[in-house]
Amino acid sequence: MPEAVLVAGGAGYIGSHAAKLLHQRGFHPVVVDNLVCGHRSAARWGTFVEADLADRDQIQAVLLEHRIRAVMHFAAHAYVGESVRDPAKYYRNNVANTLSLLEAMQAVESDLFLFSSSCATYGEPREVPIAEDHPQSPINPYGRTKLVVEGMLRDFETAYGMRHVSLRYFNAAGADPDGELGEDHDPETHLIPLVLEVARGARPHIAVFGTDYPTPDGTCVRDYIHVSDLAEAHVLALEHLLAGGESRSYNLGNGAGYSVRQVIEGARRLTGHPIPALEARRRWGDPATLVGSSEKIRRELGWTPQLPGLDTILETAWRWENGKRRAAGPLGR
Ligand code: UFG
Repeated sequence: MPEAVLVAGGAGYIGSHAAKLLHQRGFHPVVVDNLVCGHRSAARWGTFVEADLADRDQIQAVLLEHRIRAVMHFAAHAYVGESVRDPAKYYRNNVANTLSLLEAMQAVESDLFLFSSSCATYGEPREVPIAEDHPQSPINPYGRTKLVVEGMLRDFETAYGMRHVSLRYFNAAGADPDGELGEDHDPETHLIPLVLEVARGARPHIAVFGTDYPTPDGTCVRDYIHVSDLAEAHVLALEHLLAGGESRSYNLGNGAGYSVRQVIEGARRLTGHPIPALEARRRWGDPATLVGSSEKIRRELGWTPQLPGLDTILETAWRWENGKRRAAGPLGR
């Protein structure tokens, strides 16, 4: 019988790609999602259970019924700006609900956990590329919620022997190369989908948040990592824990930085659309440059991103974006 993996938030952007890959690799994904941000249509591999992580009894029942061997936890709110305006929402969902999930696991002696953490736990970098031993000093509530959970996992290991891998993503981007899944946030705030929405005529322009950063062209530099490569890292980390491996924290990025202007330029080349860009004020809480070193997971688990180039990331996202256009009609949404 295939090993069952609970995928919390498996109807969301990154979780759905992970569920698909788990299925392809012979695991049985059990997607648990409350569908507040996720989409039922994205949860089509394995079993789907509509449930809230706050409902500890139901989660415990799912863990037992499906003989869950490990948990991948993607369910979280992830808007930095919103986390500043409404931190309670973030501590409730990202911290309290994670605690509830961990307690459910503890109650049934389920002890392998893969956590979606973030480069936002580092805060303003002292040096780039950022390695895992860079001090973690988040500058917004979103990053702090992720850091609290990382600490919680270490304490749960010491006290209860629960092993974990925390995966600190840089900028997740792109879409399933088969075109079956992609980014679908509401509201959308991420650069790449917004730029492509301009290209397909669903928005008039893209605002460039800040052109006076200490970077080569004055706009923020980010390390974009393909969502399928993130999914692959989760499966490798799962196999590491299943083989008895120790708890770890790993960065997931390509180690290459692209500025906002470079992303827009790449999208213009790809789509042939002029993509009007308007210079706007800096967005609060954006570090100038975030680029990660992922040497540790490459060395220890053999992770090698298969879709590392910005052009490939844009191409897969564009295919997905066009699928949305077909669904919405010729004028977009
Ligand atoms: N940007 C624009 N215009 C836009 C949208 C974004 O110029 O309309 C800029 C941002 O200022 C930033 C860059 O494009 O410099 C990328 O922005 P995204 O919103 O796409 O992603 P972030 O860099 O804000 O990602 C951060 C962290 C992640 C975290 C994520 C949560 O790097 O770790 O926020 O949404 F998960």
